[in-house]
Amino acid sequence: MLSAKSSQIRNMFSAIAYRYDLLNHLLSFNIDKRWRRKAASLLGDALVSNRELCLDLCCGTADLALEMSRRGRAQIVGCDFSHPMLQLGRQKILKRNLNARVQVIEGDGLNLPFHSQTFDAIGIAFGLRNLESVAGGLCEMGRVLKPGGKLIVLEFSTPTHPLFHRLFHFYFFNVLPSIGNRISKHKHAYTYLPNSVSQFPDQAELAKILVHCGFQNVGYVNLSAGIAAIHYGEKEG
Ligand SMILES: C[S@@+](CC[C@H](N)C(=O)[O-])C[C@H]1O[C@@H](n2cnc3c(N)ncnc32)[C@H](O)[C@@H]1O
Repeated sequence: MLSAKSSQIRNMFSAIAYRYDLLNHLLSFNIDKRWRRKAASLLGDALVSNRELCLDLCCGTADLALEMSRRGRAQIVGCDFSHPMLQLGRQKILKRNLNARVQVIEGDGLNLPFHSQTFDAIGIAFGLRNLESVAGGLCEMGRVLKPGGKLIVLEFSTPTHPLFHRLFHFYFFNVLPSIGNRISKHKHAYTYLPNSVSQFPDQAELAKILVHCGFQNVGYVNLSAGIAAIHYGEKEG
């Protein structure tokens, strides 16, 4: 049973699903594609063999799952609680003839429909920030990862240069919401985006939370001067 807040988030993503990919690429000037490529590359060996099973959590329209599938022969499962997002993801998977290797499943990131120690690796792109509990989501990912399994978290973060931070802030809080809300025909989905990012832990704080949730060898790389970051870690073996 989803909480009221999670249901609201699910309804919001379901309502904007049909415009989600277009707006992602438009509002990020296509840089989001490069960020997901980098995220998948950090999963490295975990994607190579067809014996590996990897999860794209909060997969949305499956862009990270598809990127992961390009890196090797691993089996990929995408999981998200928005049915319309998954339907669009499924269409993309079928179009690329990848349905034997990539599948999507409906489920809540805070109560995943998988046994403990199922996955060799997990990636989550722009999903963690939307979970009602960041630590709760990370602990649940830890539960379904095998010991030694890899985690990567791609998420918006805090720009590192103060002047650039101010410029980006103007774009993110003023330009992006007015374009996003208009094209998605949703009153506040693209106002929610910068607001949720401003409440999300910065790079160093998120790294601490990963350690607190039982991950080791934790680190991060900044992307585009810290607009986004990829955190990585391994489940203690
Ligand atoms: C910003 S989108 C990211 C989608 C995709 N990963 C990407 O890279 O574009 C966030 C996704 O997280 C999903 N989501 C948010 N909270 C969730 C939860 N508790 N369980 C499962 N999915 C969730 C939403 O439905 C949405 O598809």
